[in-house]
Amino acid sequence: MRIKRVMTILNDLGRVELDRGNQHRAEYESIVSNEIREKCRDLIYDNETLKKIMNIFLDNIKRGLAKATHPDATVKCFPTYVQDLPDGTETGKFLALDLGGTNFRVLLIELSGEHFEMKSKIFAIPQHIMLGSGEQLFDHIAECLAIFVKEEQVQHETLPLGFTFSFPLAQKGLTVGILERWTKGFNCSNVVGNDVVQMLNEAIERRGDVHIDVMAVLNDSTGTLMSCAWLNKNCRIGIIIGTGNNGCYVEKQENAELFDDNDMGSGKVIINLEMGAFGDDGCLDFARTEYDKEVDKHSINPGKQIQEKMISGMYMGELVRLALEKFTKEGLLFGGKGSDLLYERGRFYTKYVSEIESDEPGLFTNQKEILEELGLKHASEQDYVNVRFICECVSRRAAHLASAAITTLLHKMDEKKVTVGIDGSVYRYHPHFKNLMMEKIRELCDPSIEFDLMLSEDGSGRGAALVAAVAARQKKKAQQAT
Ligand code: GLC
Repeated sequence: MRIKRVMTILNDLGRVELDRGNQHRAEYESIVSNEIREKCRDLIYDNETLKKIMNIFLDNIKRGLAKATHPDATVKCFPTYVQDLPDGTETGKFLALDLGGTNFRVLLIELSGEHFEMKSKIFAIPQHIMLGSGEQLFDHIAECLAIFVKEEQVQHETLPLGFTFSFPLAQKGLTVGILERWTKGFNCSNVVGNDVVQMLNEAIERRGDVHIDVMAVLNDSTGTLMSCAWLNKNCRIGIIIGTGNNGCYVEKQENAELFDDNDMGSGKVIINLEMGAFGDDGCLDFARTEYDKEVDKHSINPGKQIQEKMISGMYMGELVRLALEKFTKEGLLFGGKGSDLLYERGRFYTKYVSEIESDEPGLFTNQKEILEELGLKHASEQDYVNVRFICECVSRRAAHLASAAITTLLHKMDEKKVTVGIDGSVYRYHPHFKNLMMEKIRELCDPSIEFDLMLSEDGSGRGAALVAAVAARQKKKAQQAT
């Protein structure tokens, strides 16, 4: 009974009752087993810890922006060469490629004034290509593009294309991006150090059956910012909380020392932070848990993308699984009896965390199904409460770390009203992520700054088309001027 009553309160907490959140939280915590509560303490960051992280993050951003410190900086702060936001006058047909999220997609987008029409197709990237050679990867991308343009019957047009390539690129211009390193599940040979736009163009030339004009290469966070800015002119930050974690924001050109292009008149430039790498120099070690270290150790890029591994969807389920495994082996969960699947790396999917936290108060409907699927049918009611608590600790921490990063940007930008565009599977599908972030940013942020979080409608696809469209508009303007 007590569990049911407290679970009702808990559900409210995730929805609207932000002010009373902490009180409810305390009540809910009281039905979690004492030992589990104690052992999860290191997964909970108080505001002092978050403020400390914010200070270190700000210092990292400054180091990334300055020429002298950039080479050794972990948060790279790459200028994107996107200087202008869409102004609604963009028109025409555009192609877009979106590589680096949950799916690889090819898109055809038609813009006219407020109108936006989009057709897209998802293609699989098999694991052997994700870990194969660069040439194979780009041949595969070119093949998917060729299939798509033929299906859409635009193979005879030379359409402008925006390429969303969601990995760290050192950009030398809007259409030149040198891959700094692979992240997430990719590790193709012979791409690091090369220009990915050139590799795409070469693959297309090798085929000879399609014609495109690559107008821009961009990060998914930039696409997110652009797609939200198209609808809301206060949008100045783009954030991804999906398979990976990253962000970008509008910076003054004078602060972006690496930016060496001609000013197109805005005085601004979008900075791709590559903030997933925050912590790679050990500066977050004081806050990392044994689960973080274990996840990192078994990843394909140990020691890299430390903050990303604490926040993003590629790792969240595994963080939870490691805690569940440990507590079971210590006899604190499931009567000490685990299962092969529970002990299998990667087998507790991130979507389980969202599903478990979506359960109605006291019912545990989704959780029962998940635990059954994992061979844990013998779980007790107390186990359900404990498992949910562990999921919450991990997802709340992710939301809080993302909030600390956003607040740091809000303070740095010094604008009075900022909308933050956000995309990514974790943010989109976790039932309480937005509320958790709203609540935490409100706590951490200077109250004189007004902010809002806006879910991006397909930032990677739509954003790529918009960047291509803005670039096409600027090119035309420049041609007219000469
Ligand atoms: C990784 C990539 C970054 C991307 C993010 C989200 O952190 O390095 O470029 O934006 O994932 O997809």
